[in-house]
Amino acid sequence: MRYLITGGGGFLGVRLAERLIAAGEEVVVLDRFFAPTVRARLGDRVAYQEVDLTDQERFWAVLTAVQPEVVVHLAALLSEEAEIEPVRAFLVNVVGTFLALEGSRRVGVRRFVFTSSAAVYDAVEPVPPLTEDVPLQPYSAYGMQKATGEAWCLYYHRRYGLDARIARPAAVLGPGRTWGAAGGFAAQMVEAAARGEPYVCPLLPEDASPIIYHRDIVEGLWRLARAEAVPARIYNFGAGQVTAGELARLIRERIPSARITFEPRETVRQVVRRWRYVVQDCRRAERDLGWRVEYPLPRMIDAFLAELELAAGDR
Ligand SMILES: NC(=O)c1ccc[n+]([C@@H]2O[C@H](COP(=O)([O-])OP(=O)(O)OC[C@H]3O[C@@H](n4cnc5c(N)ncnc54)[C@H](O)[C@@H]3O)[C@@H](O)[C@H]2O)c1
Repeated sequence: MRYLITGGGGFLGVRLAERLIAAGEEVVVLDRFFAPTVRARLGDRVAYQEVDLTDQERFWAVLTAVQPEVVVHLAALLSEEAEIEPVRAFLVNVVGTFLALEGSRRVGVRRFVFTSSAAVYDAVEPVPPLTEDVPLQPYSAYGMQKATGEAWCLYYHRRYGLDARIARPAAVLGPGRTWGAAGGFAAQMVEAAARGEPYVCPLLPEDASPIIYHRDIVEGLWRLARAEAVPARIYNFGAGQVTAGELARLIRERIPSARITFEPRETVRQVVRRWRYVVQDCRRAERDLGWRVEYPLPRMIDAFLAELELAAGDR
């Protein structure tokens, strides 16, 4: 099966490409820029398309030339970037998603997978775990853009029968996933501690985020993209909640010398402050896709530290 991954040069794109290659799939990665490290990592196991997907003509020319059977649409500006660059974020996250859907319909794509986010949820007080069906009240620019993308996916499914599937991942934890996303504080904290450097967390200790280890979300995206048919349109993927203070405690248990302090910064809190009570109910992905959280807390911290150690050993 031929897969086209938009944002294929990004954190999740590269990892999903590797997962698909390992399963014997043909993969084309599309991004507006491929870092040399990405080209070195994926090598000639994938085809590369360097294009900005807000350039409709060039983007659709690629779709026409590639004729993908499955499009996995990951290209986006992340939550912190969306607060800092609202115009570009709207163009990529809303217009770009629309162009991806309309272009996919025109070339007869069989399946379309959209990565939304747990940022579409909002909760101001403790609530039961949130299912995919609760009404959305996105609070941040990014959350609104993702909720809009979801609505367009559902429209294309209703109107044209496009098999559009929506993943709602929690904030992703993993090596290098440190910038751009408001949830990046978690990876920054772990990496600084592992390097023996002090870390100033841009949140209050009681601020919290839904979280998922990168391996679990890549597995979820892979399962969602490869399933022949799915009974629902929207799937939550998360491994629970963590406060910044709890994360610091888990890190100090493992690295007692870790120096972590808290100095809240508005661009980050603007997004994260409303995640405190967001806990996702992921039973639908378990039931329909056979997906399980393999890296709950604190196991994901141990896995992360082990990955960092391995990478340091390789240098
Ligand atoms: N990382 C997280 O915590 C997280 C959580 C929930 C959802 N998501 C979603 O998952 C997807 C992938 O996230 P990621 O962590 O890999 O982010 P990332 O920033 O590493 O990757 C996004 C990629 O999109 C590309 N891109 C941006 N604008 C583009 C454009 N105009 N044309 C072509 N490519 C463009 C970027 O160059 C980048 O490589 C995104 O849609 C993101 O919103 C991420």
